[in-house]
Amino acid sequence: MSEKPPPEIADIMRVSSHREVYEPCDDSFALVDALLADQTNLLNHNPNLCMEIGCGSGYVITSLILLLKPKLPNNNVHYLATDTNPLAARVTTETLEAHGVEADVICTDIASCLETRLAGSVDVIVVNPPYVPTPEYEVGMEGIASAWAGGENGRSVIDRMLPVVDRLLSEKGWFYLVTLTSNYPSEICLMMRKRGYAWRIMVQRSTEEENLVILKFWRDRDEESLEKEASSSASFASEFSRSLSSFMEKQQR
Ligand SMILES: C[S@@+](CC[C@H](N)C(=O)[O-])C[C@H]1O[C@@H](n2cnc3c(N)ncnc32)[C@H](O)[C@@H]1O
Repeated sequence: MSEKPPPEIADIMRVSSHREVYEPCDDSFALVDALLADQTNLLNHNPNLCMEIGCGSGYVITSLILLLKPKLPNNNVHYLATDTNPLAARVTTETLEAHGVEADVICTDIASCLETRLAGSVDVIVVNPPYVPTPEYEVGMEGIASAWAGGENGRSVIDRMLPVVDRLLSEKGWFYLVTLTSNYPSEICLMMRKRGYAWRIMVQRSTEEENLVILKFWRDRDEESLEKEASSSASFASEFSRSLSSFMEKQQR
């Protein structure tokens, strides 16, 4: 009898939970689908240090480890996960243990206690941030509310994360980000473009409640196109909506 291949993503039945910790949902599944779609590239990328910001239940970081670890030539990859919610840190640790994999789990705001030490050295960052548009006062509240409350346009936490991600990423670093169309993802892409990143849409998914767009960013300092694209946010927004429409058309075929 042939041996069963190792699982490539986390088993939902072995993901730990707590009522004050975000349960894996459509957004978490869409992010893991983006990572699966990019698995071959991620393996060729051969990362040394991977990180999830806002790990919640640990479903995403555990999946990332499982889809890389058995197939990477470099078995010394280091994995990190952060969350402001101490209960999320605990639940993530339990989920990792249940799958027999390891990561350092740190309770911190974004990556504040790691930024200086890890500047320029993280090869892969994944984030499913609190993105739901809410009143500003709900952002950063204790417990489960901090999982979704994103403030104006759902962008308060996202916009704070972008410069941190830029500082942490290595020269070859990749960044995967969950957004909603109501977060104005074209603006996020433009902000990243101005920092010297190219972008692409990895997954688009419409549920009853939300329109999810999973983005991938990587450094691309083509000065000429940088100047051209950054000069007009209107033309950038239309380029983004063309990309989104053609992505959706391809999906429907
Ligand atoms: C939408 S949930 C995603 C959870 C998990 N990554 C998933 O995809 O299922 C967002 C997570 O980010 C955490 N979070 C919110 N603000 C944060 C911050 N400033 N720094 C780090 N984590 C944060 C929340 O506690 C929550 O666990």
